[in-house]
Amino acid sequence: MTVLTPEDLLTQLRWRYAVKKFDATRRVSETDWQALEEALVLTPSSFGLQPWRFYVITSQEIRDQLPAISWNQSQVRDASHVVVFAIRSPFTDEDVDRFVVRTAEVRETPVEKLAGFRNLMVKAIDQIARAGQIEAWATFQVYIALGNFMTAAAALGIDTCPMEGILPDRYDELLGLREAGYRTVVVATAGYRAPDDKYALLAKVRYPTDEMIVRL
Ligand SMILES: Cc1cc2nc3c(=O)[nH]c(=O)nc-3n(C[C@H](O)[C@H](O)[C@H](O)COP(=O)(O)O)c2cc1C
Repeated sequence: MTVLTPEDLLTQLRWRYAVKKFDATRRVSETDWQALEEALVLTPSSFGLQPWRFYVITSQEIRDQLPAISWNQSQVRDASHVVVFAIRSPFTDEDVDRFVVRTAEVRETPVEKLAGFRNLMVKAIDQIARAGQIEAWATFQVYIALGNFMTAAAALGIDTCPMEGILPDRYDELLGLREAGYRTVVVATAGYRAPDDKYALLAKVRYPTDEMIVRL
């Protein structure tokens, strides 16, 4: 098995930057895209509850409407692929039950055996909901998927731009997410940088490692 060397990993993480200008003529191959979709699905979440969905925009008609609801940023027009990261909204005990059923199915265990696990999750979720934090909690989870997506893409030499500069309510409207029980949080565009995207040449601005990493 070939494992990425630390050097290769850092080379790719340094190579990655938030692309401002994609090459509109280049497409991510089907094989690479399948791997990135799978990376999204493999993202870990609290209890494994996966309070999300990833909407991959394939319709040109929808794509054409994205710049107007994305601060006119060109990435949503020119990137090879656009993914909308959405959270389950509202997230309820029914979603916990659905996950329990899925777990029983995948692990070939009777649902009844998972009752303790189910009750633990329901208790935790209810507590978060009572504190008015359920949407925030789901949002934290979906950002893990965003990070996973960007890192996976960088490992494959695929460029991305994470995008909060969007109008989430307008995305919901356009994609019919509210009716489906989901809400837009953030978008990621993926593809290949344009050769003249000058942002690729800018030095990364990060605080010194020895300030950010605290060894106690
Ligand atoms: C959650 C999130 C949202 C972002 N939204 C946008 C965006 O809407 N448009 C954009 O051009 N860059 C966006 N960025 C890119 C950041 O500005 C960029 O990641 C940051 O400046 C660090 O630079 P680097 O990613 O090139 O290393 C976003 C980044 C993150 C993590």
